[in-house]
Amino acid sequence: MNILILGSGGRESAFAWKLAQSPKCSQIFIAPGNAGTGQYGTNVNIGVNDFEGIKQCVLSNGINLVLVGPEEPLVRGVHDFFLADERLKNIPVIGPQAEGAQLEGSKDFSKQFMTRHNIPAAASQTFTADTLQEGLAYLPTIGLPIVLKADGLAAGKGVLICASLAEAQQELKEMLTEAKFGAASAKVVVEQFLQGIELSVFVLTDGNNYKILPSAKDYKRIGEGDTGLNTGGMGSVSPVPFADAEFIKKVEDRVIIPTVEGLKSEGIPYKGFIFIGLMNCGGDPYMIEYNCRMGDPETESVLPRIESDFVELLLGVAEGNLNEKELIISNKVAATVVCVAGGYPGEYLKNKAITGMENVRGSHVFQAGTTQQGDDVLATGGRVLAITSLQDNMFDALQQATADASRIYYDGCYFRKDIGFDLI
Ligand code: AMP
Ligand code: GLY
Repeated sequence: MNILILGSGGRESAFAWKLAQSPKCSQIFIAPGNAGTGQYGTNVNIGVNDFEGIKQCVLSNGINLVLVGPEEPLVRGVHDFFLADERLKNIPVIGPQAEGAQLEGSKDFSKQFMTRHNIPAAASQTFTADTLQEGLAYLPTIGLPIVLKADGLAAGKGVLICASLAEAQQELKEMLTEAKFGAASAKVVVEQFLQGIELSVFVLTDGNNYKILPSAKDYKRIGEGDTGLNTGGMGSVSPVPFADAEFIKKVEDRVIIPTVEGLKSEGIPYKGFIFIGLMNCGGDPYMIEYNCRMGDPETESVLPRIESDFVELLLGVAEGNLNEKELIISNKVAATVVCVAGGYPGEYLKNKAITGMENVRGSHVFQAGTTQQGDDVLATGGRVLAITSLQDNMFDALQQATADASRIYYDGCYFRKDIGFDLI
């Protein structure tokens, strides 16, 4: 079968790499892809939100299945677009319709969903410009620090953790009355801060059955020791040592089953990934957020640990028989170190030639923000490469991925040398 992957990051490189290993897969197309995805298939120069362009690509290349990488096309209804089109409606899309994608597209929707289904989460309330005064009155009641979340998609920047009441008051006003995050902050969720260790649990569902994929931990801050600005993600490890079978059972009982059953009982169709962002608070899971897709760079650590045919699993989602599919997870440990552009997550250097990828020894390089120019691969995005190593134990995986990251050079290349070492 022919598969189209939407997206252009390290996550999509990892999907393409994994799908290309399946005997079921004939051709892979990636829209728009990056310089690395060309190793596994054909890049097509179409944006992820260009639904008409995607339609033409699907029809002209005999695509049998579409896998959506990022959230934006899902929230904008790419799956609904397929279902509404006579010629596309029988081509399965992996990723929920717009209604289910609200789990990520609206923090208010997702908090209300958690409340309706008794899913453990931080206490919160939602406010608009009209209820600003109530919001200001609520702030001092939930302790410090105070978490403010823009309701809509804000490219990962819409969450503020305010150390003082004065800061929270100021930010809440700016979000609601000065559109600090544009339309995304027309509503703001004010939330209690959860103390604990963060991790991500991934679920694949056909809307009825589900499989729990390997869990992962993501490192979000730019600086070593988890300092400095937030990024898209500087590295990841899987499995997460503190998420043992007992903890995952709690997540299954308290979060996963109520989520899948809740979607079903509300008549919300959902075929795709559910990314469950959790805080482990003293051994108990509390929800931070849902995403309607896989994480990046978590996918780069999760997929290498899946030994089963990934195309089979996606077909199980498409056909509604995921329960009949096998999910074999390796006991090995995967570590991913992300090389970013100099200056990221602020203004960053662009179009720098990358060398040394051929020197990587015990890792796989998943390209992200790269572009091919003649014989050169140029670093064009903030997150440039994800270096993943799969080894028998965590120390070896971390050491190998970090050593291999240091074999790569481009002007301004930066990576954290401490990814995962806190877990040892
Ligand atoms: P989100 O965009 O929802 O993933 O939030 C971004 C980051 O903010 C999360 O990955 C957490 O590190 C942090 N965060 C969000 N909500 C909370 C919370 N209630 N308590 C503590 N940290 C939080
Ligand atoms: N690494 C976090 C995310 O994909 O949202």
